Amino acid sequence: MKIGILTSGGDCPGLNAVIRGVVIKGDKLFEDEFIGYRDGWRGVIDNDYMTLPRRRVRGIGRIGGTILGTSRSNPFHDGEDGAAIVRRHMDDNDIDGIIAIGGDGTLFTANRLYEAGIPVVGVPKTVDNDLDATDYTFGFNTAVEIATESLDRLRMTGDSHHRCMVAEVMGRSVGWIALHSGMAAGAHVIALPEFPLTIDEICAYVKSAWDRGRAPLVVVAEGYVPKDAPEGFMNYELDEFGRPRFGGVAEVLAPLIEERLGIESRATVLGHIQRGGEPTGYDRVLATRLGTAAVDLVHNNGFGRMVALRGTEIVDVPLTEAINSLKSVPRARWEEAKVLFG
Ligand code: F6P
Repeated sequence: MKIGILTSGGDCPGLNAVIRGVVIKGDKLFEDEFIGYRDGWRGVIDNDYMTLPRRRVRGIGRIGGTILGTSRSNPFHDGEDGAAIVRRHMDDNDIDGIIAIGGDGTLFTANRLYEAGIPVVGVPKTVDNDLDATDYTFGFNTAVEIATESLDRLRMTGDSHHRCMVAEVMGRSVGWIALHSGMAAGAHVIALPEFPLTIDEICAYVKSAWDRGRAPLVVVAEGYVPKDAPEGFMNYELDEFGRPRFGGVAEVLAPLIEERLGIESRATVLGHIQRGGEPTGYDRVLATRLGTAAVDLVHNNGFGRMVALRGTEIVDVPLTEAINSLKSVPRARWEEAKVLFG
């Protein structure tokens, strides 16, 4: 078969490991031929691609980012008949199927194309870990490792200066990175979008740590909005899917803590640092397994489906399942973490 691969949406450590897994297995077992579309759906629309012979994926599994490039463009922008353009370019290149590696936006587009008759399978990725149809997404583990290391560093400088350090981590509208990195680093309070604390509650935990002689460490998920936030608290712009472009809540929170408690406070927004760098071993293995399973899915005519992790097994599920609901932090995980605050 001749298969097109693309990586779309925000990049994420492990994308190259998926590409490598797909190409090696397809080449060895099925003598497949591969092309890689440049910059996600943009490459499909513009028919911009590179060939992906096996030698092209040598050693890439341990490298972060994506050798194909990525973008947030999608074929249905500007009212175009995206499916017709994709179909035409697939026909021009004799492509039998597309493997789309991406998060909820990408999988939503993949499903829309599938419903319009395009043979596409999905591979879930996101540092946010917010896809309900899979237990974990690759990239999440790496992001948590980077965030944890950064929090450890912030704690050291906070300790030296007797300051409250407020660190903001990614996650869009869910708090998985905050929960995991905050627990790992022993934060004194973790602010999640799912269970929003008031600013007074955060201050109470900060004060309790301070009164015990500790330099308070606050981890805040970028999507957190205080329960008592005034109307239009952050005023985020919206992206092409109507989702807020988060960023900067720590910079608002730190001065509020300083003002209310008189404790010198500093904000750090970790930002895209969390998405760069080499994938952890866990993410390399998960990404590789998903890639090899995606090749099987194409050969088994599993179009309209997505590979996923359930427990320790790789399974496949309809793309519709992937885009129906976001996986947020459940109450039990929140309660488990909250016991340790203060
Ligand atoms: O979805 C992944 C993510 O890193 C989010 O955590 C973050 O809000 C967003 O992407 C940032 O997007 P961009 O790279 O477009 O700034």
